[in-house]
Amino acid sequence: MRNKIVAGNWKMNKDLTGTEALLEELSAKLPDTNAKVMVSPTFVNLANAVQKLKDSKIEVIAQNMHFAENGAYTGEISANMLLNIGINTVIIGHSERRAYFGETDEILSKKVKAALANNMQVMFCFGEELEDRKSGNHFNLVESQLKNALFDLDLAAWPNIILAYEPVWAIGTGETASPEQAQEMHAFIRKTIAEAFDTDIAENVSILYGGSVKPGNAEEIFSKPDVDGGLIGGASLVADDFIAIVKAI
Ligand code: PGA
Repeated sequence: MRNKIVAGNWKMNKDLTGTEALLEELSAKLPDTNAKVMVSPTFVNLANAVQKLKDSKIEVIAQNMHFAENGAYTGEISANMLLNIGINTVIIGHSERRAYFGETDEILSKKVKAALANNMQVMFCFGEELEDRKSGNHFNLVESQLKNALFDLDLAAWPNIILAYEPVWAIGTGETASPEQAQEMHAFIRKTIAEAFDTDIAENVSILYGGSVKPGNAEEIFSKPDVDGGLIGGASLVADDFIAIVKAI
């Protein structure tokens, strides 16, 4: 049985005071759920968030990491630094990292391997741009993103992988993939993983949808059989909205 997951990607939002306030509200309002609930504050507030949530079921995850163990990489953070403060899961490949920080499939492949080598769980993000969808190239593009970063992994790595399909045209735009579009792509992703690895791995990997998930559309998107949860940006910054999305799963 694969995990249901709702994760909040706070991006570069919330200072320390805002982080603490949002975490307190989320902890207080978290419903009883079998789903895994995760939040990802900005780097400087991660250690504090872990402390704040030590008695909560909400997991704190990181938005990014470098692939090197340590060294002369000004401004970067390593897997070990995350593990050391109690972070076991890292988002890799978010489209904003790809678009604004030049992260290529090759770099992402190194990051995925570094995280796995450190026994971390990876939430790997990928998804097509609007032009890809308009030209009918979205399946090819998604397949190549998966192939370039994940297809040379060992079978044993897969229990530590979560996939997050995030069509770039739906991120922060208010435009969402329809539940049918999400299901169609998620089924394609599962089939692609089954062909490259095996059906067991494909059946057990959680595939999240991300891109303008809101309280009003979450339930319908999550009701699709191959959608195992969501990676939530904007709506994860408002406690009542994020909690409503958690309830929707
Ligand atoms: P959004 O962001 O929910 O604000 O569209 C999703 C994401 O970037 O993960």
